[in-house]
Amino acid sequence: MNHFRLLQGSIEEILSIRCSNYKEEYIKRRIQSRMRLCGKQDFEAYHKFFTTDTKEQESLRNALTINVTKFWRDKEVFDMLQKEVLPELMKRKERIRIWSAGCATGEEPYTLALMAYDMTRLRPNVRVTITASDIDNEVLKTARDGIYDKRSLENLTDSQIRRHFTARSDGKFEIKPHIKEMIRFQQHDLMSGHAAVKSLDMVLCRNVTIYFTEKQKNELAEIFHPALLTRGYYVLGKTEFLGREVEHLYRPFNSLQKIYQKQD
Ligand SMILES: C[S@@+](CC[C@H](N)C(=O)[O-])C[C@H]1O[C@@H](n2cnc3c(N)ncnc32)[C@H](O)[C@@H]1O
Repeated sequence: MNHFRLLQGSIEEILSIRCSNYKEEYIKRRIQSRMRLCGKQDFEAYHKFFTTDTKEQESLRNALTINVTKFWRDKEVFDMLQKEVLPELMKRKERIRIWSAGCATGEEPYTLALMAYDMTRLRPNVRVTITASDIDNEVLKTARDGIYDKRSLENLTDSQIRRHFTARSDGKFEIKPHIKEMIRFQQHDLMSGHAAVKSLDMVLCRNVTIYFTEKQKNELAEIFHPALLTRGYYVLGKTEFLGREVEHLYRPFNSLQKIYQKQD
């Protein structure tokens, strides 16, 4: 009996994560790292443990959907969005819609919201709304709460922290309502075959597809294309790139920072 296959079946059933959507090597590596931590010698022993232990089920979910992120992750990319992309959009539009796809604990959409809020103070007729989605409900809860420890704020200026966060009695910092109001968080699986939002001016899908196969990455670029408006922006992670088959859908806006623009 192939116990790895049986385990995959249980993962699909219990965690609602479709293993076939990920590279097998990736899934195996993650499971094996959990097995080491729980002292299980083989897939059979781990499978038995996994199906009966709800704590382990959550641990494996977290291991499979790693969600490391931070405010202003890759400074040059966000500087470029602030200095060139958003001003260009604000020049030609009053209603700007952004999607942060695979937002993890929320630092990416909050970075955009802080930036857009400060920029729209000089352009009161412009309104920016952000949809932020992730497959993982646990991280979305953290994102909605918008409470971070001091260390997470290291890339923000004192002025940004003062204006957009409330210091709490437990030493943590909570995003203020004027920023939270700009973002709608929702659960969405990027492999579901459809976009969570349409009529977009910008979609950021950064550091999410590293474990997707080439085919799945291409499909994602194809799904984002009709969801974007003319000249809408597509922002990838610094180590990610557009596949050959979908290159014709986007033109580079800044290749180094992996910022593309929709090609009609
Ligand atoms: C490393 S974080 C990236 C966070 C942020 N975009 C950044 O660059 O800092 C990757 C996130 O992708 C999410 N993810 C993985 N597979 C996904 C899928 N199929 N659909 C939606 N989100 C997914 C994970 O749950 C995780 O929170």
